[in-house]
Amino acid sequence: MNHKRVLRLAVTVAATGALAAGMTMTLTSTASAGTTLKASAAEKGRYFGAAVAGQKLSDNTYVTILNREFNSVVPENDMKWDATEPQQGRFSYTGGDRLVSHAQANGMSVRGHALLWHAQQPGWAQSMSGTALRNAAINHVTQVATHFRGKIYAWDVVNEAFADGGSGGRRDSNLQRTGNDWIEAAFRAARAADPGAKLCYNDYNTDGINAKSTGIYNMVRDFRSRGVPIDCVGFQSHLGTSLASDYQANLQRFADLGVDVQITELDVMSGGNQANIFAAVTRACMNVSRCTGITTWGVRDCDSWRGSDNALLFECSGNKKAAYTSVLNALNAGPGITPSPTTPGPTTPGPTTPPPTTPPPTTPPPGPDGCTASVSLNSWTGGFVASVKVTAGSAGTNGWNVSVTLPGGASVTNTWSATASGATGTVRFTNVNYNGRLGAGQVTEFGFQGTGSAAGVTPTCTAS
Ligand code: XIL
Repeated sequence: MNHKRVLRLAVTVAATGALAAGMTMTLTSTASAGTTLKASAAEKGRYFGAAVAGQKLSDNTYVTILNREFNSVVPENDMKWDATEPQQGRFSYTGGDRLVSHAQANGMSVRGHALLWHAQQPGWAQSMSGTALRNAAINHVTQVATHFRGKIYAWDVVNEAFADGGSGGRRDSNLQRTGNDWIEAAFRAARAADPGAKLCYNDYNTDGINAKSTGIYNMVRDFRSRGVPIDCVGFQSHLGTSLASDYQANLQRFADLGVDVQITELDVMSGGNQANIFAAVTRACMNVSRCTGITTWGVRDCDSWRGSDNALLFECSGNKKAAYTSVLNALNAGPGITPSPTTPGPTTPGPTTPPPTTPPPTTPPPGPDGCTASVSLNSWTGGFVASVKVTAGSAGTNGWNVSVTLPGGASVTNTWSATASGATGTVRFTNVNYNGRLGAGQVTEFGFQGTGSAAGVTPTCTAS
């Protein structure tokens, strides 16, 4: 396949979509009339996605529908912990990379799913606990998010961490037992590893205002107020034969916290109401300006994990179901949003604005020459992730070194965007190829993870 040509085509389609959105704004009485899910969603500044099982990419009927109707994909299983780190420290990215390539060749954005989850953990992680598990989990987040850095529109950093039922509290799991701060540690590690990706919390049974969604709401509000980097909340929306009347109001209350919301795993029990429920979910997303996209959990009924529920928009033959038409109509009828830098792009995620309450790292003003470095730490009992900001002085740099003296007992276990010499005591980090040369005042970042405590470390920068 001629990838360049396909990409050019995708750009043209996107430009036409933007034009159409502009026209809709001036000619408000003219209904838009996209004829595919992706075109209709794009006209309204949204994406329309599908969960993809890697092995289906060789099924013609499947791929034809996928490429015609969808402009976003999420791996159904290929980026989960058991798939990406089957043995501790041995990473396997074949399935994830294959899907990313397909997405890039076809102008689709990628949702990453899921960095940490109580289910589908590799056996070695299932039998771990305490500090060893916490460190392994944060290392997993760092490694996987680093591997896919720059290619993911939004990551489900943490999946399904809240309990069902009326408690509104956390679900018990080996991860939860490492300490209640495991979720924020994961988000901070993901931000350090892939600063351009939107970072989401994702869960199910959150289809209205209920105890579980309120527990999550309170967590997101707390994260925003403390500067924990969270940008979006995913509502899986595995639905039965009815929809909570406050589905949209629930999305809106999260959006009002300053995060994007997305429908991330939509499927609906077949039967009389299926088309109506699909349409109601689509309308709810369209009516919430921070609802940036909808993903169905599969393409055709026979691709669905829900088996005989026939829960999706296409028959196995590839034919469109009534639910398809109702979704398309709801997309075409819905209000548009002006695509902003947060709108998904296939390979270039927009800059992520850190929440306003993030305590600004105290970067000293660049000196006349040389460079300066500042560190921001995410610590927990027994470990830490350090993000280091390097700022060039007025002469710029050809390369740089940052030295950090760790307290006794602390040790560096992992470094990204720099190479470390030494692991304990005074550790020297040197730029890698692509981030050594900085213009005057220019900033770059690298990070490292360690065991023990790094409290109070002060980095010293030397330019070369
Ligand atoms: C499901 C997949 O569809 C199945 O193929 C797999 O066997 C189990 O997981 N919530 C999630 C998804 O976040 O990852 C799950 O996917 C469905 C429920």
